[in-house]
Amino acid sequence: MQRIFNLNQHDLPTRWYNIQADLDRPLDPPLDPRTQEPLSPEALTALFAKTCVEQEVSTDRYIDIPPEVQETYRLWRPTPLYRATNLERVLDTPAHIYYKYEGASPTGSHKTNTAVPQAYYNKLEGTMRLTTETGAGQWGSALSFACQALGIDLTVFMVKISYQQKPYRKAMIELYGGEIVASPSDRTDAGRKILSENPDSPGSLGIAISEAIELAMSTGAKYALGSVLNHVLMHQTVIGQESLSQMEIAGEYPDAVVGCVGGGSNFGGLMLPILHDAQERGRKVEFIATEPTACPTITKGEVRYDFGDEAEMTPLLRMHTLGHKFVPPPIHAGGLRYHGMAPIITRLVEDGVIEPRAYDQVDVFKDAVLFARTEAIIPAPETSHAVHAAMELARECARKDEKKVILIGFSGHGHFDMSAYNAYLAGKLVRTS
Ligand SMILES: Cc1ncc(COP(=O)(O)O)c(C=O)c1O
Repeated sequence: MQRIFNLNQHDLPTRWYNIQADLDRPLDPPLDPRTQEPLSPEALTALFAKTCVEQEVSTDRYIDIPPEVQETYRLWRPTPLYRATNLERVLDTPAHIYYKYEGASPTGSHKTNTAVPQAYYNKLEGTMRLTTETGAGQWGSALSFACQALGIDLTVFMVKISYQQKPYRKAMIELYGGEIVASPSDRTDAGRKILSENPDSPGSLGIAISEAIELAMSTGAKYALGSVLNHVLMHQTVIGQESLSQMEIAGEYPDAVVGCVGGGSNFGGLMLPILHDAQERGRKVEFIATEPTACPTITKGEVRYDFGDEAEMTPLLRMHTLGHKFVPPPIHAGGLRYHGMAPIITRLVEDGVIEPRAYDQVDVFKDAVLFARTEAIIPAPETSHAVHAAMELARECARKDEKKVILIGFSGHGHFDMSAYNAYLAGKLVRTS
């Protein structure tokens, strides 16, 4: 039985898909926190590359991927689609389980799909210094890889608990030439304030974002964000476009698409092109977004305007939020410890297109270990949430004797997350729910 469905290098998508062309009503605009008025796109260019801001508000259905970006994508894209036949057998399920493997990228996750164009546009516009935050370290290493190829200096604020859990992410960011700082730090006012209130703060993405923005604004650098924003989700749509072609080669169409959501970018990148395609074909697909019970943004958060960061420096976005002061427990899925959500994902959850589900890390790791023992690939802790949800679906199919085609967004491998697996195998991983 065929297990890998590969595309050729010349099958790489040449444009990104922009869902904003197909929404029945426009997204609510970002607001200026001082005036509560919609923020002009020009105001955003103080922080972000101008081209990224144009893409953020664009309603063109497709945006061409610059040839130079395609060239770099070809270092690892198209990524493989696998059929998880061993897992199907072990679960004794009639379901067919596929996973789109973004762990094939140079730094081990989907984050390179947006790091490369963001670094490229910044360079084109003359920016030589960038700052950013990183949770699990996947985004920081992806941007460090993308910046070094273009000679851009980068400072990464890494959430302190992840910095301690994942020392080799630090090494990787430095290997590519980036500077890495554990957040909260004494490098910024925002960091110093948190440290004075709580010297043992494990940090959060919200705090690290404040530090990265403050450093950018005070040094004339620009800032790059690895998730949440519309243009970031759009850059990730290469995943969904490739998956559609690969499922066609497999002679199947997904009944259920499952992913994990931190800020929403890998799941958005997978599901948005499939949603568009399914609507055109009149097909019904279940879209399931998974998150940790320890940081239940879309299952328990409110939908309202909120800041993207702790120190209230970002524009206000209308999104699911747990409140921008929320510091999640130090679970191992560092990339899912974010209080907010991509406005696009929020909209689709509100409209009932996406079904949100939350899982405890102990249940998630149990299935991640079973996945590794059957399919051999070790999922990142974030990805494991999607893997667990898909396995639960497949078990339900077994109980009901139902054949479903399940597609997992496999956002990254867990080779730098072995301390989490060590903790699980030693029975030291605690339930948070
Ligand atoms: C492997 C992996 N998957 C998922 C995520 C969650 O981010 P997003 O929802 O933007 O895909 C992260 C974030 O760091 C990650 O590293």
